[in-house]
Amino acid sequence: MKNKVLLFSFFSLLLFFGACGPDNEPEDEMPVAGDLENIEYNPQDFNIVVPDSFPTILGIGAGDITVDGVNLGRHLFYDPILSEDLSQSCSSCHLPMGSFTDNLAVSTGIDGIAGKRSSMSLLNLVYNDQALFWDGRSATLEEQALLPVEDVVELHNTWPEVIDRLQNHDDYPEMFRKAYGILDRSEITKELAADAIAQFEKTLVSSGKSKYDRILRGASFYSDDEVAGRDMYFDKESDDLPDAECAHCHGGMLFTTDEFFNNGLDGVQSVLDFDDIGLGMVTQDTFDYGKFRAPTLRNIANTAPYMHDGRFETLEEVVDHYFSGGHLNPTIDPLMNDLRAKSGDFTEDHKRQLIAFLKTLNDPAFMENPDYQSPF
Ligand code: HEC
Ligand code: HEC
Repeated sequence: MKNKVLLFSFFSLLLFFGACGPDNEPEDEMPVAGDLENIEYNPQDFNIVVPDSFPTILGIGAGDITVDGVNLGRHLFYDPILSEDLSQSCSSCHLPMGSFTDNLAVSTGIDGIAGKRSSMSLLNLVYNDQALFWDGRSATLEEQALLPVEDVVELHNTWPEVIDRLQNHDDYPEMFRKAYGILDRSEITKELAADAIAQFEKTLVSSGKSKYDRILRGASFYSDDEVAGRDMYFDKESDDLPDAECAHCHGGMLFTTDEFFNNGLDGVQSVLDFDDIGLGMVTQDTFDYGKFRAPTLRNIANTAPYMHDGRFETLEEVVDHYFSGGHLNPTIDPLMNDLRAKSGDFTEDHKRQLIAFLKTLNDPAFMENPDYQSPF
């Protein structure tokens, strides 16, 4: 029956265009144009729910994030089909139980080659309208999602190969149809795939159930240690507690400014001696050498080890670093010099109190959210 229809349309084409060589004869295996046309396309906006105290999400219009788009993105995020040897997916290095990090100092890709940077949490990235990665080299999630597939120390594949796999897959063409209204599987592109992954990532927001958020709503109370830690973190005026300066760089409701600083990790004489120049690689400005993005401290107790190269294994080591003022270098932030000047004021008690406060930002409900887990 199908062949008859094809034959019929072939002859009508012949009639219509007059002359047509035998080369143009349709082959049985070729996907018929518009092979997805009959699948319903009825996109529903996905409503990202954020805690009451959070800023309003800007820059998302009607139709930008849909239920079917998020569903497709979630599948792609967890599917090793993106990697050359089908062994790794985005989730290999961004696991929900690590607040979407891999809890390794540096990540290892499909060829077993270690990268030079530590995986980053994907929490609340919908708010990041500045720059992604430790060094800010990617502007948007849509642009970022294109990179790991072809990165040799990550998924080490090519987009034409991935698109070929997706177009010939049993389920993905239908999912792309539902998410984007494409008429034919040949319309699946890397841009659509990256857009879907970005849609899923934008849904990864705080649950509002951390102790910190519950206290804000009057539903819980600080312990003595936690309140002392909070006062040091936010530089509350106090006679007997030294200012820890944290909020200047990790401030606001999201506990990040998304700005770039040098927090004194390496003691070097010249900017040319940094192992990793961070932001300097992107701006090519020596003033930015050795600067990195100050990431969110929400859920920080679940993302060890710490810093762009995972050099600190525990929050104790992190706080020791800040309380000592870090190591002198040409681009170190003046706040680190302030910390060094008062390093003698900090005690083991202060360290315990500050860490107790940081742990009020733990968000197990975020990591356990069923909507964020693997769909496979
Ligand atoms: C082999 C491990 C690995 C894989 C696989 C991987 N990532 Fe990453 N991801 C990293 C590392 C490491 C960084 C930090 C890199 C840097 O800053 O140079 C990162 C950073 C990111 C960031 C930036 C976060 C921020 O706060 O700026 C996003 C978003 C991201 N990855 C998403 C993805 C997506 C989507 C995929 C799959 C398409 C993926 N990653 C696959 C290791 C990985
Ligand atoms: C001058 C700005 C600045 C100040 C002040 C500051 N930080 Fe940071 N913080 C950063 C930067 C920049 C990074 C990333 C550095 C890197 O990896 O190279 C960072 C990283 C971190 C990390 C590791 C994050 C991760 O995902 O691995 C933790 C934890 C942290 N800071 C806690 C604190 C605490 C606690 C304080 C207060 C005692 C503080 N910071 C003060 C700028 C700052």
